[in-house]
Amino acid sequence: MSAGLDAAAVKACCAAGYSSDLVSLLLGDSYHPGGLTLTRQLFDRVGLRAGQRLVDVASGRGTSTLLAAQEYGARVEGVDLSAGNVALASGAAAAAGLADRAEFHLGDAEDVPLPDGCADVVICECALCTFPDKRTALAEMARLVVPGGRVGITDVAADRDRLPDELTGLTAWIACVADARPLAEYADLAAEAGFRVLTTERHTNALSRMIDQIEARLELFRMTAKPRLEALGIDFAKAGPVLEAARRAVDDGTLDYVLMVAEKPCE
Ligand SMILES: C[S@@+](CC[C@H](N)C(=O)[O-])C[C@H]1O[C@@H](n2cnc3c(N)ncnc32)[C@H](O)[C@@H]1O
Repeated sequence: MSAGLDAAAVKACCAAGYSSDLVSLLLGDSYHPGGLTLTRQLFDRVGLRAGQRLVDVASGRGTSTLLAAQEYGARVEGVDLSAGNVALASGAAAAAGLADRAEFHLGDAEDVPLPDGCADVVICECALCTFPDKRTALAEMARLVVPGGRVGITDVAADRDRLPDELTGLTAWIACVADARPLAEYADLAAEAGFRVLTTERHTNALSRMIDQIEARLELFRMTAKPRLEALGIDFAKAGPVLEAARRAVDDGTLDYVLMVAEKPCE
């Protein structure tokens, strides 16, 4: 942990933040840059096939998890620390007629309530950056996946030494920025957990587009629903400079969005 933040408090704030209506208003149902287009690329890179068992760590509202079941024919389980998101994801699975092969569990990525070797594929989208103990979370992913299985991660990457003040602190941590690491560090952490890294890619445009989307939605809300959004916690005066700082950080290479696929070697 850094910046004097307490791990349990960070996790609780992340789970609460991502349960809020504000986040879904700003992001839609897919809580990561690149949306389901990048999720499909991730599934293709890990080689997801019909009948495989997929675990989605920090599954949010289950949007990617259910896509794996619907479009790829996988049997899926999601784990998330937000009870509200787990309930919404379970409801979405039932509504889509997928309850027999899609389950969602309340749990911590650093102590996942699933057995060893329960997955052929583990994914984790835009969440490793928020876990206070990234080593333990990756060790958990290595425990869940069978030998020969794969992990697919997309995440915010950051050069933390160059982050401007607007992009540090608890709010920026929850927003996936303050504790994000460089791509090379994610690869080193995956290797330390026993994975062999197969693919790394940069998806910078996905992050730029997400900043544009948030900015456009905020402007629309400012014009049409300012009191309601302020009641949900938005400070319009602060949001503009933070988004501007994020845009500059993307432009100068301090912030990025990255994809990594790694394999657990067969014993
Ligand atoms: C940016 S959202 C990404 C959600 C989903 N992967 C997606 O892309 O739509 C981060 C998610 O991580 C969850 N989360 C945060 N800390 C967690 C932890 N320690 N264990 C499990 N889930 C966690 C939050 O509740 C939230 O749903």
